[in-house]
Amino acid sequence: MKIFHSYPVAALLGLGLAGILPAATPSINITPFGSMADGRAVNLYSLVNASGARADITNYGAIIVRLFVPDRAGRFDDVVLGYNSLADYQRASPYFGAVVGRYGNRIAEGRFTLDGRTYPLVTNNAPGGIPCHLHGGTVGFDKVLWTAEPSLVDAAPALTLRYRSRDGEEGYPGNLDVTIRYQLGEDNSLSVEYRATTDQSTPVNLTQHSYFNLGGEGRGDILDHVLTLNASRFTPVNAGLIPTGELAPVAGTPFDFRQPRAIGERVDEPDEQLKFGGGYDHNFVLDRPEAGGLAHAATVFEPKSGRVLEVWTEEPGVQFYCGNFLNGSHVGKSGRAYARRYGLCLETQHFPNSPNQPSFPDTILRPGREYRTRTIFKFSAR
Ligand code: GLA
Repeated sequence: MKIFHSYPVAALLGLGLAGILPAATPSINITPFGSMADGRAVNLYSLVNASGARADITNYGAIIVRLFVPDRAGRFDDVVLGYNSLADYQRASPYFGAVVGRYGNRIAEGRFTLDGRTYPLVTNNAPGGIPCHLHGGTVGFDKVLWTAEPSLVDAAPALTLRYRSRDGEEGYPGNLDVTIRYQLGEDNSLSVEYRATTDQSTPVNLTQHSYFNLGGEGRGDILDHVLTLNASRFTPVNAGLIPTGELAPVAGTPFDFRQPRAIGERVDEPDEQLKFGGGYDHNFVLDRPEAGGLAHAATVFEPKSGRVLEVWTEEPGVQFYCGNFLNGSHVGKSGRAYARRYGLCLETQHFPNSPNQPSFPDTILRPGREYRTRTIFKFSAR
């Protein structure tokens, strides 16, 4: 295990690198990635496994900036959307690659009642003109600086990120101590482990907001990607993208991905749910053999490169978002604009608006208890 702090090596590993990478020994390379407005330094941590797969992660927003994995010919490409600079992330990012929290996804009207008290939250989103709280608020976990600790865990490069979200931040109660551990496995799996504790009861729902394009970032849309979702129900939404509370069967609808289907095949069908989301932007209720434990949530296959992404999670749901709001205004790492549906997100999570929806699985973390969950993104090619 090597941990480098060498700037020239970083320049070598480089921005926008694509192509065949040589076999490597697991390493972590640390380079400067700019600084916060208050002067605190931000770093980029490049985790490389023995076969040369590489994840570049910054401690700003716990963002996965780059992710190089091989196609069926062994060619490495960067399969996530993002920027080359911290300034770009700070200026305008639709959560590219970030960890979102304290509550990933939407909370209706930006408020919830817990133990008899109503908590107003920041409203920072208004689909269909209906205001809500989205992804933790104006300054969510995607926009804060985390402390970072690189290490070797079970012979795999890992990065542990920590952040204390203060009592009252964005309207949430309690000091919440959050730990995220990314680990790049020998088998080209990127695991994300989330933990949190609190000193007051609070909703917590953390997720990873990477936009994947298995053909390589910036090269086109994801409509030819073939998706399988292990979900026989989803949570339909109203015009404000808030779940109605119903767990509706996907059978006979464009939401049925139990058998592999191209994302573009039905995305523009005249369906009210698709109209609300401008395409897929919905939470799917995962079918799992038993409660808890890692279960297979989704598989994505990109026919040209042969790349496959499998998503495994301990969470009960996954938000499948097909990048409907991308409109070409974000110019990514390779200098190409990200047009509509240039990336897809599979945000493993508890269901949206759970704090206001008693029939949904509970998202309240109590003092003395630990929030702990895990999601694995596993890459291969066929
Ligand atoms: C989530 C939401 C989408 C959108 C994106 C960010 O996936 O479900 O509606 O807000 O984040 O643009």
